[in-house]
Amino acid sequence: MKPLQQLLTEADQQKAAIGHFNISDLVALKAVFAAARELNVPVLIGASEGERDFIGAHQIAALVRSIREESGFPIYLNADHTHSIEKACEAAQAGFDSVVFDASALPFEENVTKTAQAVTEMKAIHPFIVVEGELGFIGSSSSIHDKVPERMSPMTTPEQASEFVRRTGVDVLAPAVGTMHGMLKSMVEGGARKHVDPVRIAAIKRATRKPLTLHGGSGTDDQGFLDAIEAGITIVHINTELRVAWRRGLESALAKKPDEVVPYKLLPEVVESVKQVAYSRLQLFNTSLKSVPTR
Ligand code: G3H
Ligand code: ZN
Repeated sequence: MKPLQQLLTEADQQKAAIGHFNISDLVALKAVFAAARELNVPVLIGASEGERDFIGAHQIAALVRSIREESGFPIYLNADHTHSIEKACEAAQAGFDSVVFDASALPFEENVTKTAQAVTEMKAIHPFIVVEGELGFIGSSSSIHDKVPERMSPMTTPEQASEFVRRTGVDVLAPAVGTMHGMLKSMVEGGARKHVDPVRIAAIKRATRKPLTLHGGSGTDDQGFLDAIEAGITIVHINTELRVAWRRGLESALAKKPDEVVPYKLLPEVVESVKQVAYSRLQLFNTSLKSVPTR
């Protein structure tokens, strides 16, 4: 299987984006893998510190490795939103393909210093690991919010982005370009949408010449994603939409079978519910790839 860094370079050239989906359990992992396999497009599985605490860093690494070995399918694993160097090194040792080192809540200079140290320490463990740095705080929780999270940073400027990339040595940059983590209630109900700033993305891309990640993807409209990818986004992170689908699928399965206690008779509906979201997002992110089959 090709290294993740090579895949990102190719996606950049083809103006496609790799879909990154966070998972907390085997149900969501099965769903995301099934969607990617059906579309025949590569996929990134994300597990944040909280998600790794629940599943186990070594356990999720073993699960993804076994899927990869059995299927030969390009499924990659990312240690999402990792705040400490200790946790970043743990993920590198467990065999993750990439780590998002997230010191975005710190002032610029501290973010630069900590991220640069994280890059050095992780590359010493695993020279080909892909390290992403974050510039601009966009909230910390992929859940449903009553209002926009507090302490959101202003959007990232091309000048800051260029300096950050040069001084830290990151392979990938996550700038703040209009989205936030999680969804407002009005977005879950289907009304409000998030707005990305493609002009800013294009300027940051020119200034850094690195793959860029769009975090906080849930609740963005289709055209917003297409504009962001055209402007230079190479990875798109989706979490809350999957969590909403997981819960709705479970509620529906329980309502239909109130007396059922066998997990494998209830959970397929949850897999299907999560899969539908991952499928439609992956199809959109890979619109420019001619090989993507239509359903
Ligand atoms: O790293 C995870 C994401 O940025 C997900 O954000 O929950 O708004 O989709 P989201
Ligand atoms: Zn994120």
